[in-house]
Amino acid sequence: MIIAIDGPAASGKGTLARRIAARYGLHHLDTGLLYRAVAKAVLDAGHAADDAAHAAAAAAAIDPEKFDEGALKAQAVTEASSVVAAIPQVRQALLDYQRAFAARPPGAVLDGRDIGTVIAPAADVKLFVTASPQVRAARRVAEQKARGVRADERDVLADLLRRDQRDSKREAAPLKPAADAHLLDTTHLDIDAAFRAAVAIIEAVRTGRKRG
Ligand code: DC
Repeated sequence: MIIAIDGPAASGKGTLARRIAARYGLHHLDTGLLYRAVAKAVLDAGHAADDAAHAAAAAAAIDPEKFDEGALKAQAVTEASSVVAAIPQVRQALLDYQRAFAARPPGAVLDGRDIGTVIAPAADVKLFVTASPQVRAARRVAEQKARGVRADERDVLADLLRRDQRDSKREAAPLKPAADAHLLDTTHLDIDAAFRAAVAIIEAVRTGRKRG
């Protein structure tokens, strides 16, 4: 079974994806980490994030086994990840890895922006997870506080909106729901309620398949 989970920044899709993967015994890939690793490699080498040639070379060379998630969540990397993600050659270089990951038995949950539209268009279940920008910003601030990082909610909101804009307006694989995605708005749901709602959608799709 392949489950595609897409949505804007800080919508809660990562936490949901992890829990869904554990519930169904599937592998999990946070595809945002791939773009973050490319961004970090480009910045560490002293290049600009929109330097297509260096970003594409970095994308071809990343090793997900060696990711340091903490370092990949740094603000400069976050901002640059959305810039490198708009470069078609970067997306192309990361495509095979993601498709091979999805194909590993017994299946996988992948979360990102283009999983249901580009990476796994034949996924068994597609979720598009959203929440209001204000709620997403508040959650991101709480998350950073838990990691000991102080953040201003207005700055975080501005960063999220800028990134959403860039991710959804780009030419290459923009952030958008697949035509057959199930929308899940978590604005008024805590993580347990969002998880229950996601499982209900997955079960409904599976039951419908068995009957059909
Ligand atoms: O999910 P995230 O916030 O960690 O993702 C970081 C950036 O990577 C995001 O701004 C856009 C990009 N991204 C993408 O373009 N496609 C994906 N499948 C996942 C992330």
